[in-house]
Amino acid sequence: MKITKVVLITALCALSYACKETKPTKSTPVKTDTALLPLEHAVKQMELQLVEAEKANRIPRTIDEQGNMHWAKEGFDWTEGFYPGSLWYLYENTKDEKWRLAAEKFQALFEDHKNYTRYHDLGFVFNCSYGNGYRLTKNERFKEVLINAGDSLLTRFNPKVGSIKSWDVDKGWQSQRNWMFPVIIDNMMNLEMLFELTELTGDKKYREAAITHANTTLKNHFRPDNSSYHVVDYDPNTGEVRSKQTAQGFADDSAWARGQAWGLYGYTVCYRYTKDEKYLEQAQKIADFIVNYKGTPADGIPYWDYNADSIPNAPRDVSAAAITVSALIELNGYANKSYQPAIDTILASLKSAEYTATIGENKHFILKHSVGSIPHGAEIDVPLNYADYYYLEALTRYKKAF
Ligand code: GLY
Repeated sequence: MKITKVVLITALCALSYACKETKPTKSTPVKTDTALLPLEHAVKQMELQLVEAEKANRIPRTIDEQGNMHWAKEGFDWTEGFYPGSLWYLYENTKDEKWRLAAEKFQALFEDHKNYTRYHDLGFVFNCSYGNGYRLTKNERFKEVLINAGDSLLTRFNPKVGSIKSWDVDKGWQSQRNWMFPVIIDNMMNLEMLFELTELTGDKKYREAAITHANTTLKNHFRPDNSSYHVVDYDPNTGEVRSKQTAQGFADDSAWARGQAWGLYGYTVCYRYTKDEKYLEQAQKIADFIVNYKGTPADGIPYWDYNADSIPNAPRDVSAAAITVSALIELNGYANKSYQPAIDTILASLKSAEYTATIGENKHFILKHSVGSIPHGAEIDVPLNYADYYYLEALTRYKKAF
């Protein structure tokens, strides 16, 4: 994947995405095949994966080094909500009851994790699964599970810091870093569940915590070029920033690709629920950093870290691209300029044979070439269930938006 001068010029043209003055309107030509064909492909691939998952009664996460299925951990796994979430998107698109039944069955496998308080990932886990389930079925039991998960998440909110603590630091690799109260940019993804809980219950405590967390992150996580640090560590007693570092990126001051995508998605959601212009402005600043980044190849799929030292031989991260394009589709509906060129470039790449697996291959995951964590030597150039989830979300959103 060497970038020659010619390719670089092409990349500059494609990735400047020449943000137009006007937003697309309903009369913008609709490329229906862009939205419909990949969904049909996904249905076929996930029908095969469902057979394997049903047999094992476990949640597909990725592929291991031997090419075997790697299931989500049964204790608690931050990715466990994405598989039932993908099943909900297939149900939404096909109205086929088999997907609803499967989504309900697989999310029930981890329902009791709604009481876990050692992890910040409850928004990822429960909003993608039970949250989509409630959105599509209005099943009151799903709402009760979401409330329980939201209350567990709020136990990690510290008013002195003004944030939800991401990781406990008493064991595991997190205990080696001298952190006291680490907050990662990924944590912005927990806020959607909190905002939604205030809508569902009328209790403002969820929304207030979400807004405070978003404001603290806005103040401390971003650099002058609008890229973000991965980890900001706080003193839990004073709220002071102790350090700004990385855990999954190339370097403390680099731009980890998935982290930029989480920030973009998170601030777009904050604007959806609050209509506060500062969140829209931040989402656009992050989007502009991503789509204008000159080192990204012309197909719009970023390297795993925008500043990785092995570029142009560094692995790409399809999961970052899938999260980004889903967020951009929503942002495009609010922004004062069009992100449609970037959206179309990324979606066209994701649905191409370079990134979409042939049906029956890739252990029946839809997309190839994602990265879990290079610093941890984990899940490098593999499929990931969350890449598939945000891709299905993006395809679903695209159909509705354009
Ligand atoms: N912590 C979620 C991620 O790896 O992106």
